Amino acid sequence: MDGNGRWAERRGHPRVFGHVRGSSRIKAVVRRADELGVKVITLYAFSTENWNRPETEKSTLWKLLIKFLKKEVDELDRQNVQLRIFGEVDRLSVGVREVLDPAVARLAKNTGISLNFCVSYGARLEIFEAAKAFARACLEGRESPNGVDQRAFEKYLWTSPLGECSDVDLVIRTSGEIRTSNFLLWQAAYAEYVFLDICWPDFGVKDFDGALEEYSKRDRRFGKVSSK
Ligand code: IPE
Ligand code: MG
Repeated sequence: MDGNGRWAERRGHPRVFGHVRGSSRIKAVVRRADELGVKVITLYAFSTENWNRPETEKSTLWKLLIKFLKKEVDELDRQNVQLRIFGEVDRLSVGVREVLDPAVARLAKNTGISLNFCVSYGARLEIFEAAKAFARACLEGRESPNGVDQRAFEKYLWTSPLGECSDVDLVIRTSGEIRTSNFLLWQAAYAEYVFLDICWPDFGVKDFDGALEEYSKRDRRFGKVSSK
């Protein structure tokens, strides 16, 4: 969900104005994804690198996350949405955790679309932490490097609750930047990427549909000669 700051600055507003507008775009996109039968939607809300932003901007982002959860949790529950957080939840403040934890506890048991927020998330950190947890399990005799395959290793990743749905099919990045920025690097190994010039606060259902249409035209060969 990139481009909030630039969207606001171009209009002569402070960056946080873009975050406010950006957070208001989430609901419709999630509903559309559900409508179309998408099984998992994961939103990159805050990266491990975003901790280096000014305090005022960070506190706005946390307020918006809290506001979104408080406002939407009942509706998300009604829609049978599963909610999860991927990232360093331990680094979040008590105030954020007080809202986040009950929302996740309530919604994680649902059976509909999986809505995930990457919060204090970095793919390198996720893989590194998984490697450490695996190494610990080996030392304690619970795992063996000889017996493990890649799928079994995935249970150490933050995305493990997604099971076989953890492989990413499509990554949409808004704002015109053409880079992955440490997002789901393991899971998106064979993802299709769609880069859009519009900034996240302008992103709507039509743009989402457009990205899915573009995706549907891609020939996903997974390294083979033909997908047919
Ligand atoms: C994306 O918008 C939202 C977050 C990273 C939280 P940005 O804040 O990255 O906006 P730009 O990229 O500076 O325009
Ligand atoms: Mg950005």
